[in-house]
Amino acid sequence: MNPLKQQIETLKKEKNAIILAHYYTLPEVQEVADFVGDSLGLARKAAETDADIILFAGVHFMAETAKILNPSKKVLVPDMSAGCSLADSCKAEKLAEYKSKHPGYKVLSYVNCSAAVKALSDLIVTSGNALKLVNQLPKDEKIIFVPDGNLGDYINRMTGREMLLWDGACCVHDHYEVEQLEKMKAEHPEALVVAHPECRREMLEKVDFIGSTAAMLNHIGESDAKEFIVVTESGILYEMQRRNPGKTLYTLYPGQPEHDCVNMKKNNLEKIYHTLQNEEPELLMDEELREKALVPIQRMLEMS
Ligand code: 13P
Ligand code: SF4
Repeated sequence: MNPLKQQIETLKKEKNAIILAHYYTLPEVQEVADFVGDSLGLARKAAETDADIILFAGVHFMAETAKILNPSKKVLVPDMSAGCSLADSCKAEKLAEYKSKHPGYKVLSYVNCSAAVKALSDLIVTSGNALKLVNQLPKDEKIIFVPDGNLGDYINRMTGREMLLWDGACCVHDHYEVEQLEKMKAEHPEALVVAHPECRREMLEKVDFIGSTAAMLNHIGESDAKEFIVVTESGILYEMQRRNPGKTLYTLYPGQPEHDCVNMKKNNLEKIYHTLQNEEPELLMDEELREKALVPIQRMLEMS
């Protein structure tokens, strides 16, 4: 075993720590994780752990969610600069201003947002539970959906709602080009296409299955098809291939790491080792903000 991996395992035991990692992180990071999942799975895991320390290998808003759910635990983040372009596209001050101009509206926020935005929200959703939760809301509920315009547009189309959409987007999924998908389809005519709902509508109209990272993984496992083009961050291919050794999987941009999420890729073994050893950087949060942000997250966990 790689010595760094061994040292990380030793530190985890010594400190009663667990590592939670998102599917988009590097393979070696997923290998040292105690749990690898999508945003919903990671939030659930963070809510139920009895570890003293949670090291979160993902992006900042995900670690914040873990802290909101576990105030007494130490939440460590290997790289504090690992943000999310989507979360950054909705600032709390702007949302507060928008809310004040739309009295009577409920704020539904995609989990990819800051704790301050969560604190202004009535309900949080993830890509894994958005349709299910929106369908539980009264049909005539007036809703503002933030921050992902593409996911919001997808939810509107699937549920027949007319939620007001924030003009935010993920700098990874929003940049995927339909021409590249057509090229890949021409090269692999037998392949089915799965995509994340953060992609643009014109892309989603061309795919066979739309779902969260966990939903895409399950779909590929259950499908009889043998070949897939995967329209999301390439890190997920590691777990997909591990679970489906007999299937052939292609990313949308094979061999082009510039299309990956740079923030997810900031997590590496060296940083994880030093973070666990020094127990810093630690994610700290103002208690009043945490309590406010907890309410819509708890509502999500109860409803999903
Ligand atoms: P999931 O909730 O599907 O894991 O997606 C998180 C994300 O950041 C997608 O870009
Ligand atoms: Fe954020 Fe996009 Fe990276 Fe997901 S892929 S963490 S939405 S920037």
